[in-house]
Amino acid sequence: MVQLENTQLLKSAGYIDGQWVVKSSTFCVTNPYSGEEITRVSDCDANDATTAVLAAKKAFPQWAAMTAIQRGALLRKWYNLMIANQDDLGYLLSIEQGKPLAEAKGEVGYGASFVEWFAEEGRRLTGDTIPSPSANKRTVVIRQPVGVVAAITPWNFPNAMIARKAAAALAAGCTFVVRPASETPLSALAMAALAEQAGIPNGVFNVVPGLNASAIGKVLTQHPDVAKFSFTGSTNVGKLLIKQCADSVKRVSMELGGNAPFIVFEDADLDAAANGLIQSKYRNAGQTCVCTNRILIQHSVYDKFTAIYREKVHALTLGNGLEDGVDIGPLIDAKSCVKVQSMVDDAVEKGATLILGGTPATDNNVYPPTLLSNVTPDMKVFKEEIFGPISPLMSFQDEQQAIALANDTEYGLAAYFYSRDIGRVWRVSEALDFGMVGINEGIISDTAAPFGGVKQSGSGREGSHYGLDDYTNIKYLCMGGIA
Ligand code: SIN
Repeated sequence: MVQLENTQLLKSAGYIDGQWVVKSSTFCVTNPYSGEEITRVSDCDANDATTAVLAAKKAFPQWAAMTAIQRGALLRKWYNLMIANQDDLGYLLSIEQGKPLAEAKGEVGYGASFVEWFAEEGRRLTGDTIPSPSANKRTVVIRQPVGVVAAITPWNFPNAMIARKAAAALAAGCTFVVRPASETPLSALAMAALAEQAGIPNGVFNVVPGLNASAIGKVLTQHPDVAKFSFTGSTNVGKLLIKQCADSVKRVSMELGGNAPFIVFEDADLDAAANGLIQSKYRNAGQTCVCTNRILIQHSVYDKFTAIYREKVHALTLGNGLEDGVDIGPLIDAKSCVKVQSMVDDAVEKGATLILGGTPATDNNVYPPTLLSNVTPDMKVFKEEIFGPISPLMSFQDEQQAIALANDTEYGLAAYFYSRDIGRVWRVSEALDFGMVGINEGIISDTAAPFGGVKQSGSGREGSHYGLDDYTNIKYLCMGGIA
């Protein structure tokens, strides 16, 4: 039984061209903790995705022709509605995704903050004038919206990952089509209900829920009327989608997997580092791209830090995200629990020591926070993105070795380190081959800061004033005949 104050937020149809599209075929959305069916949602297909792209194409000229202030005013209304409905949106997000209610409401606030940010930032989308080599000419640069933007978003942040892309696209004057993850379409559809209420014109924001990710994905990556494609998800899927975009040379931005190191130097405040690590590692039960994956601790403080950290992890409360005081909810599904367990087994087989957890998940998909000591680079927990509540601990001797171990990955999204030595802070910050670095901080996500990675973690930046760049084309105007 879904308990909402605003019952209008529980939608089960696709949202295309301002219409709620009901399909005879539906798919089930389940609560990952209880396994109960929450509702069934219309199973949109490739034809619906095409209809959505064409609706976005039709809506584009008028939306792009509005002033940034007019678009900003509509985005501001959307933001206000998200905040007014934050409790309900958080509840929906928690039951479909599993994260604790307080965290889910926090995500809604985080998502809404991108809508607010870009409502304001759109009016600061300025061009440039460049000194001309000739007295007869002027060199002017203007920025224009790219056109129709298509996106595929993940289940780990069902609200914020849509908001971060859609708000930037709409503020720049683009129109938008999204396929939300089939595990978590309800947050996306609730956002569409609020966009409709805010008066965002038909065809500007479209949501195509559907089970057939591959068929819908092909339309969104290959349709000639899509100018830009944006994806958040795994590196493997991202590579495939980039290939699909190649034929029509689409602009792409990719926010892909991570393998974040968390380095604790001997001069760190160990208690603060342990707290930062809990935040970085256990947010959303370890299911974020920026989650700590590998914990590197300087040899001289290894035992002391491990003991402090173990005690804090042991105190975490597991269970149903809707219950008060729960820190860690379920993983998204049973398959994820099995995958995480197999990574723990692999590490133990290769010589790691289990110092906490490691027992199989409960029937509710709750996997216990697990600490593994003496981890080595040949183990899966070192090489692969874990996406679960596992803390692999290993020691290092000196700064050079820490940097080499940290950079020993094909990923380059986020990295963290704790040190109170200012020289080291600069040296290590510059040497880490990652798009984002948390220094004496476990949580780096911030609306005003550029989010994104290097290497196989992707390209493009979301949020901040850089977040508009991916949604605009730069046009150079060469004006002659002046002198
Ligand atoms: C992600 O894990 O994909 C996003 C996390 C964030 O924005 O903090």
